[in-house]
Amino acid sequence: MVNDKIIHRSSFRTLASLVLTSVIFFSSFGASAQDGEKLFKQNCAACHVATDKTVVGPGLKGISERAPSEQWIIDWVKNPDALIASGDAYANKIKDFSPAAMTAFGFMSDEEIIAIIAYVNSYAPPVADVPVVDAGAVDAGAASETSDEGILLNVLVGIAGLLLVLIFVLSGVRRSLTQLVSEKEGKKAPEELGVLASIVHWLNTHRGWAGVILLVGTLAFLQWGTKELMNIGVSQGYKPTQPIAFSHKIHAGQNGINCVYCHTSAEKGKTAGIPSLNVCMNCHSYVDKGPTGTAEIAKIYAALDYNPSTREYGDAPTPVEWVRVHNLPDLSYFNHSQHVVVGKIECQQCHGAVEEMGVAEQFSPLTMGWCVDCHRTTSVQVANNEYYEDLHERTPAWHDGNPVTVERIGGLECAKCHY
Ligand code: HEC
Ligand code: HEC
Ligand code: HEC
Ligand code: HEC
Ligand code: HEC
Ligand code: HEC
Repeated sequence: MVNDKIIHRSSFRTLASLVLTSVIFFSSFGASAQDGEKLFKQNCAACHVATDKTVVGPGLKGISERAPSEQWIIDWVKNPDALIASGDAYANKIKDFSPAAMTAFGFMSDEEIIAIIAYVNSYAPPVADVPVVDAGAVDAGAASETSDEGILLNVLVGIAGLLLVLIFVLSGVRRSLTQLVSEKEGKKAPEELGVLASIVHWLNTHRGWAGVILLVGTLAFLQWGTKELMNIGVSQGYKPTQPIAFSHKIHAGQNGINCVYCHTSAEKGKTAGIPSLNVCMNCHSYVDKGPTGTAEIAKIYAALDYNPSTREYGDAPTPVEWVRVHNLPDLSYFNHSQHVVVGKIECQQCHGAVEEMGVAEQFSPLTMGWCVDCHRTTSVQVANNEYYEDLHERTPAWHDGNPVTVERIGGLECAKCHY
């Protein structure tokens, strides 16, 4: 008896400790992968990215294959100068990579550095960060989003329709049966009910089904209603026909013309601007034919009152009235150069893969939520940024190890975006 109990208890203890160890093992495992990311972002991300792009220091992708050993990376991170001074060959090879020397992280433990390496090695760039999707894929995405909701709606409408048909068929059958019976009994057929009256009659006698139909109908209506409400004032996907069939795919895509060659003010001021036809004439004074022929380019000549055969301009030019695609309400303030030059944000992050668009369209929702979400999550580009050189040094509060998001520099203050 006693022995039994002891054995029982001790095996229970073994089991418990096994469970506990594995819990600790797995949770510490999970934590360390997460820590790696956190540590990297806090300490290294100002100078390194986990891809192969150079920021201040080299991109750390593939570092485990490149560096002599894991121990080397640990030693380097803890004290690069000491490693260089020791005459280490690899350290001396990379030491002049950048005029800015790498900081020593003497306070870091081996485990923390190993966690950072693990994070870097497992890093896969988030797909959503770089919208290099082509216009087709964007279209498909937008379509599938709407069709997800559409399918439900269609199913509901379908069910309602099916029930109606069923009602008609059943009431038809019932009618012919009554007729048959009354004929057999030699009685006069009862008076035919009208369609509406027979529906009302059917609903009256089939309360359960009536309830179901009412429920389905209400759900379908609510679903449609909320969808319409959410979309008020949001013109994502807006793609107006333009007076001249200008194609970004031909110009920015196939011919690789830089966005700011035409949208010159995007780097200088508030608006990106639409180029004047004179910019078009830099090329179209001799390119008079495109893939669809001469008609569209002839519209440029017509608007400029230009005669391509004599190469002379008349005196009656008429401006081309491009249809605005993007249009924030007047109550909000948006500045391109702040985002493109200071924030170093690619046009495509907000406008999508314009270089794949045959017809320009609105890629982002342009709602306040869209602006604010990005300001919450995007770090200010402090490193190598003229705009911040002084400011950064003069703002010690920024050196607390947390990323400096747009939110932290006041990017969620109402007055920044509203006059
Ligand atoms: C102040 C900028 C700065 C910070 C912060 C920084 N590094 Fe570096 N790092 C560099 C520079 C610059 C180099 C290239 C060597 C040189 O020029 O001194 C480098 C080189 C390296 C290398 C060798 C790269 C190679 O391709 O061989 C590793 C590994 C490395 N850093 C890891 C880290 C880790 C891990 C952190 C964070 C704990 C970190 N660095 C933080 C600037 C920085
Ligand atoms: C050859 C000149 C040219 C180049 C290069 C060019 N664009 Fe455009 N862009 C135009 C013209 C003209 C319009 C107005 C007609 C239209 O909407 O298609 C326009 C319209 C736009 C619009 C919509 C403007 C509105 O009305 O809201 C956006 C956004 C845009 N371009 C972004 C870009 C981006 C991003 C690039 C680089 C990938 C680029 N453009 C390259 C000429 C150009
Ligand atoms: C942070 C997001 C963001 C980035 C980055 C961005 N844009 Fe815009 N763009 C907008 C918004 C928002 C509007 C609408 C502005 C308005 O209606 O006042 C707009 C409008 C435009 C327009 C219409 C004309 C105008 O100036 O209002 C063009 C053309 C344009 N952008 C081109 C570009 C080009 C080219 C780049 C890259 C050099 C770029 N944008 C980068 C958000 C962005
Ligand atoms: C840097 C040179 C360059 C500039 C600037 C330029 N284009 Fe073009 N554009 C071309 C070339 C090259 C083609 C012909 C492409 C081909 O044939 O494949 C073309 C073709 C076209 C076409 C014919 C499209 C078709 O489907 O047939 C139109 C329309 C057009 N451009 C309008 C414009 C407008 C409007 C502007 C000014 C906003 C402009 N382009 C500025 C180089 C340019
Ligand atoms: C893709 C991300 C992104 C989107 C979308 C975005 N912003 Fe920004 N915004 C930034 C970044 C990054 C900065 C910081 C630039 C800098 O360093 O000053 C910034 C800065 C600003 C600032 C200056 C803030 C300050 O404190 O100096 C204003 C104003 C602003 N954005 C307005 C808007 C508005 C309005 C919209 C929506 C129409 C918008 N932004 C959408 C990334 C974004
Ligand atoms: C990062 C920029 C940004 C900040 C910060 C911001 N807004 Fe907005 N807000 C916008 C833009 C852009 C719109 C227009 C978008 C639209 O029409 O969907 C807007 C629209 C609005 C509207 C009109 C809503 C409508 O549906 O027409 C109100 C009200 C508003 N904002 C209030 C505020 C208040 C209050 C704050 C501060 C707590 C604030 N906003 C902060 C960018 C901003």
